[in-house]
Amino acid sequence: MADGSRFVGVAALRTAVLLGLIAPAAWIALDYALGAMGPRPVERALQEAGSWAVRFVILSLAVMPLRQVMRWPRLAAVRRRIGVAAFCYAALHFTIYIADQKFDLVKAAGEIALRLYLTIGFTALCGLIALAATSTDAMARRLGGRRWRQLHWLAYPIAVLAVVHFFLQTRLEAVEPTIMAGLLAWLLLYRAVERWRGAVTLPTLTALGLGVGAMAIAAETAVLWFKFGVVPGRVLTAMLTFETGIRPGMAVLGVGILVVVLSIARNISSRAGTRPATAEPATSA
Ligand code: HEM
Repeated sequence: MADGSRFVGVAALRTAVLLGLIAPAAWIALDYALGAMGPRPVERALQEAGSWAVRFVILSLAVMPLRQVMRWPRLAAVRRRIGVAAFCYAALHFTIYIADQKFDLVKAAGEIALRLYLTIGFTALCGLIALAATSTDAMARRLGGRRWRQLHWLAYPIAVLAVVHFFLQTRLEAVEPTIMAGLLAWLLLYRAVERWRGAVTLPTLTALGLGVGAMAIAAETAVLWFKFGVVPGRVLTAMLTFETGIRPGMAVLGVGILVVVLSIARNISSRAGTRPATAEPATSA
């Protein structure tokens, strides 16, 4: 076989991804049922569902670049599934919010209209509903390939709104929102380069990983300095020595470097003839 499906059949891949998508919901339900969600279980379930919604939105956007870098076209088979899962987690998040408002829809609507971060979350949810509703083959046929693709480009602004919503409601240090924002910046720039140049070469991929990583480190350092008064030297030392674990900026840099390593490994394996090159170039569209 000419691609990664030599190792993982599409059916097995689909099943593994489905299980991975269901697992967080099962985990949330189990923790809730066992009373393992701390003193405010509803708030905790709301946060967990929202976090997984954002993670899956980002993951669904990462499928295309990963597919191109790994020259694994069949990875596209799971993209839709991940996108629908993102919608399901966002819907669960919204349902928990409504339940938390004692199903008082008028009060909930008022809150959504008045609080900016809720208005932004609601807009993202409406976008996800539109994408999920048109995700079937029948809808894709009805809309026609071009219109369907145009509509599904909405996934990018939706991801931006979801990450902004994530940032705005964060009261303490924004660790995960910073990682999500960094990954989203990488994905947006990758897509922009791909559209502009037609292909993303290895040097560009390297520049992208290092550039976005550096931006994330600089942004994190600036926020910690201005918001919490931690001097930049202290932040950078903590980042390089990992004394407070992997900092968000370093995580974004790490992901960028990992993608470059994957691309190099894929090129080497192609040249060694262990996996004959497919029609799709390493990082082309
Ligand atoms: C009408 C739509 C939405 C409403 C009413 C809503 C409501 C909320 C509320 C009240 C919180 C704060 C939870 C807390 O007390 O800490 C929150 C947090 C959050 N929401 Fe939403 N949200 C909506 C849509 C979305 C969407 C579409 C996404 C993602 C795609 C999302 C992702 C998140 C995330 C990641 C958090 C932070 C979770 C954490 O602290 O770990 N929300 N949302």
